[in-house]
Amino acid sequence: MAASHVLVTGGAGFIGSHTVDRLLDDGHRVTVLDDFSQGSRLNLATRLGLPELVVIAGDVAEPLAPTLAGAVARLGPIERVVHLAAQTSVTRSFEAPLADLRVNAGGTLQVLEYAREHGVRAVAFASSAAVYGDATELPVREDFVPAPLSPYGVHKLASEQYLQSWSAVHGVSTTPLRFFNVYGPRQDPGSPYSGVISLFFARAFANAPLNVDGDGSQTRDMVYVSDVVDAVTRAVFRDDGRGEPINVGTGGQVTVAELARLVVSFAKSNSVITHGPARTGSIVHSRAAVERARELLGFVAQIRVAAGLERTAAWFAAERANTLA
Ligand SMILES: NC(=O)c1ccc[n+]([C@@H]2O[C@H](COP(=O)([O-])OP(=O)(O)OC[C@H]3O[C@@H](n4cnc5c(N)ncnc54)[C@H](O)[C@@H]3O)[C@@H](O)[C@H]2O)c1
Repeated sequence: MAASHVLVTGGAGFIGSHTVDRLLDDGHRVTVLDDFSQGSRLNLATRLGLPELVVIAGDVAEPLAPTLAGAVARLGPIERVVHLAAQTSVTRSFEAPLADLRVNAGGTLQVLEYAREHGVRAVAFASSAAVYGDATELPVREDFVPAPLSPYGVHKLASEQYLQSWSAVHGVSTTPLRFFNVYGPRQDPGSPYSGVISLFFARAFANAPLNVDGDGSQTRDMVYVSDVVDAVTRAVFRDDGRGEPINVGTGGQVTVAELARLVVSFAKSNSVITHGPARTGSIVHSRAAVERARELLGFVAQIRVAAGLERTAAWFAAERANTLA
């Protein structure tokens, strides 16, 4: 595929920084737009200073043309957008639903308006399995009627529908990707709202108790970050996306209690596992149907949970060694 200028919103974050690595490795020019509310320049440390990379501190929920003008002058017109910037916490979306609306639906509209006005060919968007709510039938298929339980899920669904509209009316190729539970190196355990695996690893490496919500029998489809990046890059280089949502998961499921046990084992930890109350708005069971991803993107997740956890454990161990050195 021809080298392109790709904008990655949220590119200093967990999934974003891995996406930037992949795009640069593939020979593309990349602009990162991130407000650094959650992401960090450290995630891009090995790339900063490259002529093919522009990093901008800015808000995706404000008009983008002025913010991106310098990057366009340097790297040429933006041809494709991976839109990952978001308020990512379900819990916080209940606490501050209007703030979530501004960034998570408003930010998507800003991206789409920029795409329409500046001839961007394709937008790939980080939606979420949260749009399904607590689906009673598994695996969860894209044609299920969405029933989000949280403002976060509602705003992801609204964003998907904006994408469909901009494809139908303005001809932008769009692909909403419904990520299931993503994990891997660089996932920030510093926030109480972070992904369960990074929180577990941080506790396990400190030999502190791992707190499992409820009885731990809830299940998740855990998808490793390199697989997610593979799906994202396939989506952003499509030119015929019509806004149809596509699950990004493995098609497998694992209980949270089992994850806690695996993390303790891979971290070679003495942590005990404790149980707390179940979370408000939390999904009980989750497993992605993966056929549509295979058909439309040629995407099949490659990394099994044990292999992904082993790699993640190695990254946490190296980070810890650096901090202690
Ligand atoms: N990690 C998962 O399991 C998961 C699951 C489903 C969906 N998603 C979605 O994937 C995307 C990436 O998530 P992540 O796990 O990498 O989280 P992350 O917090 O590491 O990345 C989000 C990035 O967006 C940035 N950001 C937040 N608000 C912004 C704003 N107003 N303007 C510009 N930048 C802003 C943050 O600083 C951060 O770098 C998000 O849209 C998230 O909702 C993630």
